[in-house]
Amino acid sequence: METGTDIKKAASLIRKGGLVAFPTETVYGLGANGLDPIAVAKIFAVKQRPSFDPLILHVGNPEMARELFAQPDNMVVKMLMQHFWPGPLTIVAQKQDIVPDIVTSGMDTVAVRMPDNPYALDLIREAGVPVAAPSANLFGRLSPTQSQHVRKQLKGIDYLVEGGQTRIGLESTIVSVEEHGLRLLRPGHITTDQIREAIPGIVIRSAGENEDGNKIQAPGQLKSHYSPEKPLYIFRHTLQNPGPSAGVILFTMHPGNQMHPGRTIILSPRGDLLEAAANLFSALHEMENDPLVGEIHIQAVEEKGIGIAMMDRIRKAAHRHQS
Ligand code: TXA
Ligand code: MG
Repeated sequence: METGTDIKKAASLIRKGGLVAFPTETVYGLGANGLDPIAVAKIFAVKQRPSFDPLILHVGNPEMARELFAQPDNMVVKMLMQHFWPGPLTIVAQKQDIVPDIVTSGMDTVAVRMPDNPYALDLIREAGVPVAAPSANLFGRLSPTQSQHVRKQLKGIDYLVEGGQTRIGLESTIVSVEEHGLRLLRPGHITTDQIREAIPGIVIRSAGENEDGNKIQAPGQLKSHYSPEKPLYIFRHTLQNPGPSAGVILFTMHPGNQMHPGRTIILSPRGDLLEAAANLFSALHEMENDPLVGEIHIQAVEEKGIGIAMMDRIRKAAHRHQS
């Protein structure tokens, strides 16, 4: 596939109904004109998604979002955009009619975000349309944080914007705007504490919780997701007797973490959770590609701040290998 940094060309391909993979600050996205249902359908074909999952529309500025949300002047929507855009926060709210059903899976809400990456912003502004983009991986596989991860997985893309390694490395936080306040649909770099700080007094419920604290079904919340093609196991403190084909992913250098003789990757030598999060998917891709690695063991991190989103992704990646 053609790869480069010709944003004018990439934008014109988007306008013509083509598919362009591009970097955001979170992960690489597989983009198409979000107002063109046929272009959007190509995304599902290339990703081999078995069913139509709703997609995020990416905008180049908050004004573009005004045409997508039914109530763009809703105070909570406005405050979220002001505080967190451009950035890794996706806002789900009632949609306007111009948003095609294929983007929302027929729901009356739409997910929108303004990414904080110069290539992504140039591309969207130059194309002049909201860009629908899921992560640029095959269905159920690892999200891409480097262009080579996209190339490894996807065929049939018209252009790949080369933007190096993505800064954050975990998909955006998703919140939906509801009557009671907000619902957290996916944890990410932006934490619920940061949102509470930005909007004092806001009520934030978790994905599976109603007014009585009972469980509900939220869309797009598959348990297994983002999986590497090798068995993945989570360990807490130390790993007991890893076999010769074990690939080990450690959070940091620590006296308790003996280096085992096989393959070991340290996510953040200086013990910084943000750096570890940025390297998580790359480490999993590397282990997946390494012919000497038969199974992957990954160390759990503390569930604080970005650690909540990291453990969410790690558990989903490991889910199909748990009994
Ligand atoms: O960081 C990100 O968000 C990346 C980059 C490319 O922007 N994109 C991404 O897209 O992670 P994707 O398709 O892999 O995940 C989008 C999630 C899905 O779980 C989907 O179910 C949810 O957003 N979603 C989209 N529209 C929704 C809606 N109207 N209501 C509820 N969930 C929605
Ligand atoms: Mg994804």
